[in-house]
Amino acid sequence: MSDQSHHQYSDDPINGFKPLSNGDGFSLPITGNDISRSQERVYGDSLMANGLALEETDEEDEEEEVDDDYVAVDHDDVNEYPYWFRRPPVHHRSKLDDLHPFVQVLTQANVDDCIAVEEAFPEQERCSREKFNYRLGRCPELCFGLFTLPILEPGQPKVRPTLVGHVIATRTSTPHVTDKAMELPADWKTERLTVVDGEAVGHDDDGSSIAIHSLAVLREHQGKQVASTLMKAYIQRIQEAAIADRIVLIAHDHLISFYESLGFENRGRSKCQFGGGGWTDLVLEFNTE
Ligand SMILES: CC(C)(COP(=O)(O)OP(=O)(O)OC[C@H]1O[C@@H](n2cnc3c(N)ncnc32)[C@H](O)[C@@H]1OP(=O)(O)O)[C@@H](O)C(=O)NCCC(=O)NCCS
Repeated sequence: MSDQSHHQYSDDPINGFKPLSNGDGFSLPITGNDISRSQERVYGDSLMANGLALEETDEEDEEEEVDDDYVAVDHDDVNEYPYWFRRPPVHHRSKLDDLHPFVQVLTQANVDDCIAVEEAFPEQERCSREKFNYRLGRCPELCFGLFTLPILEPGQPKVRPTLVGHVIATRTSTPHVTDKAMELPADWKTERLTVVDGEAVGHDDDGSSIAIHSLAVLREHQGKQVASTLMKAYIQRIQEAAIADRIVLIAHDHLISFYESLGFENRGRSKCQFGGGGWTDLVLEFNTE
């Protein structure tokens, strides 16, 4: 078949008909070019310009005269595959998705929000209002909150985002959390740094460890991966900002494996007696080389 014979047919739809998208069991020639190809297949070189065969061929010849370049395509499947390839990745909506969460640095404007979240702790382990004021005022860049904001209908009044979970931290020069690092310096309103017995009390601007004093999630939102999402975001931001050598914290036994899953190492029993003691030291080192 010469190139010329292809050019005598147009690729335009015939009589305005477009190719069928799901012509099950039907194989209709739709464009001029399709006709030329289909007839070329049937009649080989014995095709006249008007599309009629020059001579009849017997059935045996038809089967033998298959063009080497001809590749049979099973059109039954054609409509199915693009559908599967175009499907978005499977994502099952989680309880966390329903919160439309976002993570943001906390400031002293969030003290009331933090007090509400802190109620997740037993009373003796809670951070006081004054400590929140001190920590959020002294080092807000180390304190993150995960907030939720409902999707509003047009015209609905704006609402304040709800703090769902928080990470509250200060800097310390010690390689693990100590009681002094957790304390509130008596003179915090007037002094930038308080040192007692050679160790800073509370936040130490020059400390290379970030000490997390509180990870808490509102009771009604626990079990929705809020803490793990917040901690992952926190670790990533601190690591990327390269502002500390390590993150340190103390935890009770039931949460050790949770922190280990985030990359923390168990360093054994803590000397910290805060809230009655019984803590384990956990450390996440950034510069391990
Ligand atoms: C601990 C706390 C922060 C977890 O918050 P959360 O948003 O419910 O936690 P997540 O849904 O992200 O859970 C992450 C993992 O934490 C672990 N975990 C959470 N709560 C736990 C509990 N009470 N006991 C044991 N493991 C627990 C699980 O391993 C869980 O993983 P899984 O869901 O795959 O089983 C929350 O329960 C809380 O505020 N508790 C009171 C304050 C507190 O104890 N803070 C920790 C200080 S060290």
